[in-house]
Amino acid sequence: MEKFETIAVRTQMERSQHLEHSTPVYLTSSYVFEDAEDMRASFSEEKERNIYSRFTNPNTSEFVDKIAKMEGAETGYAFATGMAAVFSTLAALLNSGDHVVSARSVFGSTHGLFTKYFPKWNISHSYFNVNEVDKIESLVKPETKILFAETPTNPGVDILDLERLGEIAKKHSLILIIDNCFATPYLQNPIKFGADLVIHSATKLIDGQGRVLGGVTVGNPDLIREIYLFSRNTGPALSPFNAWVLSKSLETLAVRLDKHCENALKVAEFLEKEPNAENVKYPFLKSHPQYEIAKKQMKLGGNIISFEIKGGIEAGRIFIDSVKLCSRSANLGDTRSIVTHPASTTHSKLSEEDQLEAGITPGLVRVSVGLEHVDDIIADLKQALNSL
Ligand SMILES: Cc1ncc(COP(=O)(O)O)c(C=O)c1O
Repeated sequence: MEKFETIAVRTQMERSQHLEHSTPVYLTSSYVFEDAEDMRASFSEEKERNIYSRFTNPNTSEFVDKIAKMEGAETGYAFATGMAAVFSTLAALLNSGDHVVSARSVFGSTHGLFTKYFPKWNISHSYFNVNEVDKIESLVKPETKILFAETPTNPGVDILDLERLGEIAKKHSLILIIDNCFATPYLQNPIKFGADLVIHSATKLIDGQGRVLGGVTVGNPDLIREIYLFSRNTGPALSPFNAWVLSKSLETLAVRLDKHCENALKVAEFLEKEPNAENVKYPFLKSHPQYEIAKKQMKLGGNIISFEIKGGIEAGRIFIDSVKLCSRSANLGDTRSIVTHPASTTHSKLSEEDQLEAGITPGLVRVSVGLEHVDDIIADLKQALNSL
């Protein structure tokens, strides 16, 4: 099999009659047919071809092919955003009366799906804490269909043991869905450990430059077929232009990630020694509670660090106000380093109790380490911590 970097650069749609070197953008909403019979055969799927860009488009297909190969999957479907991928994947597979077992530490909007929207369709959930994987089996009911988790988690950067989740899902015939957003396919391939489906918010490290939104789900072809049919009718498709941007971004994912991770480890080691930073969590720091699991399933530690500012919410506010180089933004996985205060932003819709249960303390800060020179990133964080 080709190596990751070769897949990233060389997975490309068939060239047009112009023999372009780099993939062009196919900004077309529909496609034409030779005759009525061609049209009939295409709609009845006797022929595999593009019909309408809500279904497929050459740019989205190239992007999906690349991610699928990178994740060791056969096929997938691309979405306008990461949340469109999470929602459509779950909604396509769940029926009224079904139950989901999920890690409690999931992205705020995913938590919103489980707690606010799915109950409207009589779909229930049970949460397990990230350090209580052994409790999962006791939460499984006859109507449980899906086991869902993120690893590393947002924003706590906790690690779940994918091998263990794979075993549990297999034993209870559950569909294991992993949101692999923080790791990207370069650092971690959940399918190897038994995941049936892998979801990405491509908005983050896959784009990597803070330009476009996108999402993708890859994995088991029978499940993807259901997700495709649901999406073909409900319309969350990724735009061809964004697919083109994201496929281009994947060409440099490996080199970008190597540098992101090298910078992040240095920043994490610096933060560990800072008196105003507590509970520094980075998967490849030896002090991380799940360091051994991270080493087993991840190639490198990623670019996200979480820590607590000594002094709680007020000190957190001063810190965020004091950074000069780092951006104050809710995004992550950008070339530009970003500091975020999850309790008041990305996870603010969670009650205080739910925040604490998900490990989001009032002083928790999330740093998305970018590609500026690491000395400059550290100098900025240092002066901000010194201003407390
Ligand atoms: C782990 C995770 N999943 C899903 C999403 C949603 O992605 P998007 O913002 O592209 O909808 C995010 C966004 O931050 C995320 O961090």
